Amino acid sequence: MSDNLHQLRCFGCGSQIAGAEAQPDFRCAVCGDLFEVEYPGWSQRSGPDRPNPGALKWLWRERRCSSEALDQSGVWRFRELLPILENFGNAISLREGNTPLYHLPRAAKRLGIDQLFAKHQGMNPTGSFKDTGMTAALSVARERGFEWVACASTGNTSAAMTAYAARAGLKSLVLIPAGKIAWGKLSQAMDYGALTLQMNSDFDGCLRVLTEIVKRAPIYLLNSVNPYRLEGQKTPALEIAEALDWNVPDHVIVPGGNLGNSSALGKGFRELKELRLVGRLPRISVIQAAGANPLVRSLSEAHGAVLEPMEANTRATAIRIGNPASWRKAARVIQESEGWCLDVTEAEIAIAKAELGAEGLGCEPASAVTLAGLKKLRAQGVIHSGQTVVLVLTGHTLKDADYTIEFHRGTLLKPEEKLGLEREIGALRRDAINVEATPEAVLSVLKGKVG
Ligand code: F0G
Repeated sequence: MSDNLHQLRCFGCGSQIAGAEAQPDFRCAVCGDLFEVEYPGWSQRSGPDRPNPGALKWLWRERRCSSEALDQSGVWRFRELLPILENFGNAISLREGNTPLYHLPRAAKRLGIDQLFAKHQGMNPTGSFKDTGMTAALSVARERGFEWVACASTGNTSAAMTAYAARAGLKSLVLIPAGKIAWGKLSQAMDYGALTLQMNSDFDGCLRVLTEIVKRAPIYLLNSVNPYRLEGQKTPALEIAEALDWNVPDHVIVPGGNLGNSSALGKGFRELKELRLVGRLPRISVIQAAGANPLVRSLSEAHGAVLEPMEANTRATAIRIGNPASWRKAARVIQESEGWCLDVTEAEIAIAKAELGAEGLGCEPASAVTLAGLKKLRAQGVIHSGQTVVLVLTGHTLKDADYTIEFHRGTLLKPEEKLGLEREIGALRRDAINVEATPEAVLSVLKGKVG
């Protein structure tokens, strides 16, 4: 099971190549599509040679008590399902993964759902889900002898990449859209010593430029077009299944930007089923911001056969992406698992974020689309009260504190955006109140509220 044998298969034309043969932009030389990592050894094994699901589950749980760094990683403790390195000793880990699965009792009650959970990927070392993918792909970069790594980013990929590169002693190049990423994320790339270039473009433009750069210079591309990223990012699927005692939830709801995460989680659940570690797939639904909804359009207008790039616009800057790289993979995940793909407005995102905050679970605006999407799916009657639902919260609330403060100050949304929702928003807002520095002033504010 753990023999380190993998190959890359083109998602479009099925061409198979060895990992080291991939082009610098990770596009197929035959058809231009993206690759997926596959492990031919798994299907060749039969009878007593088949991996024993019970033994794997025991081993993975047992590793949580181990003092070995590799075992303490919530990615590498599942290393039997990601044999992508020649030598696991080359793994660069910041003890990523093993993130909490929180119950959401208040939202569950409001929505009339018995079992509602949030898998909080913002509780990773750099504050986002990107860490699980970065430990995998950056370890490959180091094993293959690269000195430079690079990404285009809306902020979180760059924060994760630069942290792992710094740990590995590699140099990192970051291309970001000027003025369109949250400060918290930019500060991380600076702190971790990256060469950060701000461009007068959007995320899609930055990725286009970087794709040319990696063809001309020996720099390893770490955007989610890199299939090893998705191998790491599939492990939260394993953690969710493990936390629910290997019963998959009925629904998993994920934000959609460049669409690597939904693709990766879908792959994770698919492999668990193929290896008989779980009995079925959850329905995986992808939620986009209404101003950055190319996959929603593709699925509703063209059944996911083509995707029309769009100019994206949303305050959830992490998912401000109009030409998502992994859209074909994500479309397959949604279709194969019989999930849904829908979009939510700026006001719906802001309300959902404040509701999660009021439950003690802050998150990034991009993460809050999951709760906003769940509310819609529930209203449409496609998610039922007895079902188990997991929302994937992708980023930490402190990544974009400006957004939160503006919401509570009432300056985030334009009047036309909150039309009809003013009372709901007013009930959630908690602006700071200026008072004199005296007990009387404080007590007068508390009057009628305490006791
Ligand atoms: N949530 C957060 C907090 C993100 O940072 C991203 C993507 C997503 C959701 C969407 O995930 O792209 O896999 O569909 N951020 C990327 C970045 C694009 O550069 O940090 P996706």
